[in-house]
Amino acid sequence: MAKKRVTVLISGRGSNMASLIAAAKDDAYPAEIALVVSNRPDAAGLAHARSQGINTAVVDHTHYSKDREAFERALQDVLTTHRIDLVCLAGFMRMLTPWFVGQWQGRMLNIHPALLPAFKGLHTHERALAAGVKTHGATVHFVSAEMDSGPIITQAEVPVLAGDTADTLAARVLEAEHRIYPQALRQVAEGF
Ligand code: GRF
Repeated sequence: MAKKRVTVLISGRGSNMASLIAAAKDDAYPAEIALVVSNRPDAAGLAHARSQGINTAVVDHTHYSKDREAFERALQDVLTTHRIDLVCLAGFMRMLTPWFVGQWQGRMLNIHPALLPAFKGLHTHERALAAGVKTHGATVHFVSAEMDSGPIITQAEVPVLAGDTADTLAARVLEAEHRIYPQALRQVAEGF
């Protein structure tokens, strides 16, 4: 079966993108990373993607002032040109409109650094520590119009340890993220 053509959308560091690129190097992996797109020209992940021979594109949201849909139409055009089958959001820091989400219904994944439905939104590690939870983790889910709320594909739990700071907890969760995102993409790519 032909590999699914995947784009990873990033805004920054791109460590989850790197984990997807690494997994997709396996000949038996059912998806290829055909394109990495950033909304920020200075995203560190772009250089890594290029060093791996992956096509990259920048759709700079600042060029579209406050017109979110114009930004998304430009993004959609790039994805169409590259014949993309699946979208993976990986630290992509733009809210998406119902129109764009609708274009990718059941074909767009996101990774969130918490055990959804707990701790939607930002600063998840600080909030997990403040709440005193003993177990935290990461979730890969399909993207729906409401943020951090689509159907869950997979989750990984990590313990919260005595003395954890937001940084130590984030590092433990990030390891889990790098493990489960390639697994979740495999599952989705094999499933259709
Ligand atoms: C990750 O923690 C991810 O779960 C969240 O943003 C962070 C992105 O990190 N959505 P990276 O750019 O993948 O390194």
